[in-house]
Order: sequence, then structure tokens, then C-alpha cells
Amino acid sequence: MKNMLIAGNWKMNTNVFESQKLVEYILGFMKTNDNLKSRVLVCPPFTSVYAIGQIVKNSELLLGAQNCYFEEKGAFTGEISIPMLEYCGVSHIIIGHSERRSYFKEDDELINKKLLAILEHHLTPILCIGETLDERNQGKTFDVLKNQLDKDLSGVSKEQIDRIVVAYEPVWAIGTGISATREQVVEAHNFLRQLLIDKFGENANSVYILYGGSLSEKNADEILSIENVNGGLIGGASLKGDSFCSIIQTAEKYVV
Ligand code: PGA
Repeated sequence: MKNMLIAGNWKMNTNVFESQKLVEYILGFMKTNDNLKSRVLVCPPFTSVYAIGQIVKNSELLLGAQNCYFEEKGAFTGEISIPMLEYCGVSHIIIGHSERRSYFKEDDELINKKLLAILEHHLTPILCIGETLDERNQGKTFDVLKNQLDKDLSGVSKEQIDRIVVAYEPVWAIGTGISATREQVVEAHNFLRQLLIDKFGENANSVYILYGGSLSEKNADEILSIENVNGGLIGGASLKGDSFCSIIQTAEKYVV
């Protein structure tokens, strides 16, 4: 039994109206299944963040954002600051997602700046890391994960480590319908837990390590039952209320 966080990453999907509908569905589920022990988070696109914040503010449903900039304010056209998100009721911010690393050329140095700024504001970063198929085929998975963790967590103290959520997302599994196998997830999550403990000590035992990459209601049981998996970061399946809520229900079997 362990801590669980089920997080929906809606990516560039849903307008305000569609976001509200989806969140109302999830809230309805949470009302009829009260006393859920798993934490549940939704990360809508920026244009819906404020509206969703108003809807969830007196509920157990947590609100996240999909990105941020590390500066507080100023001449950074098109960017969104952490205080702006905080004002909308955001508690978690996804950083280092592979789509941002590859399409928007975000590097570990930028991701690390965002992570430290999020901690400074007492919000929770969800740091995504993961290897590409090429890297896996070349036997480099663990080196890649270690390198990303070392760089992205640079400057984080032992006292801060349990305020960070890590999401292991093999790039080849994201949006492809092909999730990592149970063995691959066990191996990667055990490796990450040990690495965090070696670096940060016993506090790292309580770090949430999420799995992401084609997680759905079909493979949720197989993956969420794994010892060092503390939930999931879910893209495609989080856009369907029934699929997302079914994953929450599965998480309840394994949560403390
Ligand atoms: P997916 O996306 O569930 O659609 O594979 C996961 C993610 O990118 O966080």
C-alpha cells in the first residue's frame, strides 16, 4: 500500500466549455465515491485554468498547469508566471514533458530553473523524465534517466525532495497506445527510487513516482499495482471522464 496521485494531462485539448464538462464529470464521480484516498489532479490548458479553479476550489480535486516560466513577471511575451497560476488555484505544475523538450527545445537547464522557482513558490513540480526508443535500444535508459534527474534536480535540498513529483514517461510510450511492460516499469521505478534515496536520503521514500505513457483503464491494474508506482500521468485516457475515473478506482485498490 502506498501514496497515489492520478493526474490528467489534457495537453492542447478542450476549450473552456469542454473543460468544465469534463471536470464536472470527475467531480460527480468524486462525490459518489467520497473518501477517496488517492489524490486526483487535472491539468487543463491555460485558457481553462481560471474557470476550472473556480469550480474545484471547495473540492478535493486538485488543479495543475502544463507549463510555466520561471520569472515572476515582465517582458516575456506569451509566457505565464507561477504567481499567475497560483492565483488561479494551481497547486501542481508539469515541467520537462517530452513534448516540451522535443518540440519547444526545452533543455535541462531551463527545466531546472522552472523547478527551483516552483519550489520557491511552495507549489509542486511534476518533473517528467524518460528515454527515447533509440536510447532504450542502445541500452542507455538508466544513463538517460540519471542524467536528467541529476541536471533537473540540481540545487534541490534533502528537505525539499519530498515536495517534488517525478513522472517516468518513456517517450516511445507517450500517445502511442503502447505502454511500457510491467517489467520495464518495475525496473525503471526501482532504479529511480534508489537513485533518489542515494542522492537525497530517506525523505526520497515518500516522493511520488508516477508512470506515464499510454496508461489507460485497460493496463491501469497491471501498472498501478507495482510497488514503486505512486500513480499515473495520463494523457489520452484523461480526456474521457469514464476512463479517467476508472483509473482512479483502480488506484484505490493500492493506496494507503
Ligand atoms: P498518453 O500521454 O497517456 O496519451 O500517452 C501521457 C503524457 O504525455 O503525459
